[in-house]
Amino acid sequence: MSSLNFPFCTIALLALLFITLTFFKDNWHILMLERGLTNEISDLDSVSRRYSLFKELNERRKELLPYYAASLKKFGALSKIDTQYFLSLKSERLAKTQENIITSEEITDAVGCEQLRYVKNVDFLGAGYTKTVIKGVLPMGFPVALKSVNEKGSDMRRCLEDFNDWDGCRELVSYKLIKEIVLLQRLRHPNIIKLQGHCQLNTQAGGVTAALEQGSPLQMIQLLQSPWEERFRVCLGLVRLLHYLSQSPLGPVALLDFQPRQFVMVAGELKLTDLDDASVEEPACQTDADCTLHFPLRNFSIPCSSGGVCQGLNEKRNLYNAYRYFFTYLLPHQAPSILRPLIDQIMNSSGELKRDVSSTRKAFEEILRLYKSGLYLENLPSSLIRDYTALRGVRASGGVAYRCWPSYSQQACLLSVHNASEAALICSSHPHCTSFTLGGQVTWTGRPLASFRGGFSDLLPDVNSVMYIKKAKA
Ligand SMILES: Nc1ncnc2c1ncn2[C@@H]1O[C@H](COP(=O)(O)OP(=O)(O)O)[C@@H](O)[C@H]1O
Ligand SMILES: *[C@@H]1O[C@H](CO)[C@@H](O)[C@H](O)[C@H]1NC(C)=O
Ligand SMILES: *[C@@H]1O[C@H](CO)[C@@H](O)[C@H](O)[C@H]1NC(C)=O
Ligand SMILES: *[C@@H]1O[C@H](CO)[C@@H](O)[C@H](O)[C@H]1NC(C)=O
Ligand SMILES: [Mg+2]
Repeated sequence: MSSLNFPFCTIALLALLFITLTFFKDNWHILMLERGLTNEISDLDSVSRRYSLFKELNERRKELLPYYAASLKKFGALSKIDTQYFLSLKSERLAKTQENIITSEEITDAVGCEQLRYVKNVDFLGAGYTKTVIKGVLPMGFPVALKSVNEKGSDMRRCLEDFNDWDGCRELVSYKLIKEIVLLQRLRHPNIIKLQGHCQLNTQAGGVTAALEQGSPLQMIQLLQSPWEERFRVCLGLVRLLHYLSQSPLGPVALLDFQPRQFVMVAGELKLTDLDDASVEEPACQTDADCTLHFPLRNFSIPCSSGGVCQGLNEKRNLYNAYRYFFTYLLPHQAPSILRPLIDQIMNSSGELKRDVSSTRKAFEEILRLYKSGLYLENLPSSLIRDYTALRGVRASGGVAYRCWPSYSQQACLLSVHNASEAALICSSHPHCTSFTLGGQVTWTGRPLASFRGGFSDLLPDVNSVMYIKKAKA
């Protein structure tokens, strides 16, 4: 790579100089014609503003180059001609280049402008500083989330304050979305939202739309009230994601803006959706002090490597953020008691950054294994089940359904259990419970859902069900 740096920089500089000069020439010309020389001061001001915006646009373009270069490298050699072409492009032709960058990877996102033109049932999903997200349905009935530049967002507002140029600002902000599209094409994981396609309208500055798998915004409050198994799933998904990011095809990725609102839920699974603030490079350093992570309650430091990078800092930053935004709220409470020591270990080691992401992930997978195996049910009295009469092929209907916590249903007491013995134990501990049914339904771990009832008026045939009725005490 170092052998490439020199000519690369020279080309970049020359190109920049060329663009700058052309830009100045054109603009002076237009300005003179338009307004004459009467308002020199404000003209100068406006030119210097436009120049700054232009410089910033160029910065954003250059920021995308590493991804572009990385994928070219993957397909053979880094072509100098391509990079030169890329850097020397003038602003008007930029749209075309964006398309080039975005599709330089093999096309995995099939949805394009044509399909997006016929999107139906448009509805608001969410918005942030940079982007607006709407819900849509493609012609074939396929649901998508459509991301575009948030024209009322604070990125756009700040840019307009600085430069007062609508098209330029839209284009500037759209670079964040383009970066996100490029990253989504290269980073593929079950816990990263899937890119279904994108559209770049050449006729409109910054007219970029990304079509993503549709999720629902993460509701932390709702999640806090859900069963431990579901909260564990979110944390497990997160730690699997961080493991992938720590050794991604682009290198170790840090999520600089790591907050619950950058994630969505898709069928119970956590997925990262906001990638524009991701960094694919470990920070550079001169002294150890440069490799410090500052958090409100803790600071962490690692040594600066001889190569002048903070090796492993990206992974540490992600893990501590996972701890402070997710694990502390979701992981410990209501965990099965025998899993507690393991969970406390995870809480402690991630809160102190004592273990890396890979071994934290291993600890999570071990908890999952124990949980699925039912080993957490220490000494389940096997006699309990004998207090119940089993009826195969029926389920209860009508009568008294009572609610419990944390139920999978709001109207009834529906809990995840290991097997009928655990369900019997739960039923015995609920004063209202006189029967329970194991239907065919299972949770994401494959555990059956048991429905607990206070009584019933009818029995309905159901081949997938076994109903257990408490025997009358002698
Ligand atoms: N695929 C999606 N499905 C549903 N909602 C989404 C999706 N992607 C994003 N959102 C919602 O839109 C909001 C803004 O999206 P985001 O990419 O975070 O934009 P910004 O970069 O402006 O923060 C998110 O906080 C989230 O609630
Ligand atoms: C973290 O470092 C900053 C700057 O060095 C310092 O001001 C702050 O007190 C430290 N915080 C903690 C919790 O140690
Ligand atoms: C981890 O455990 C140590 C020793 O018990 C304790 O002092 C420390 O506060 C714990 N840290 C966290 C983040 O839980
Ligand atoms: C339920 O699982 C526990 C723990 O694995 C086991 O001891 C018990 O025999 C099982 N009960 C039934 C009815 O399968
Ligand atoms: Mg966001």
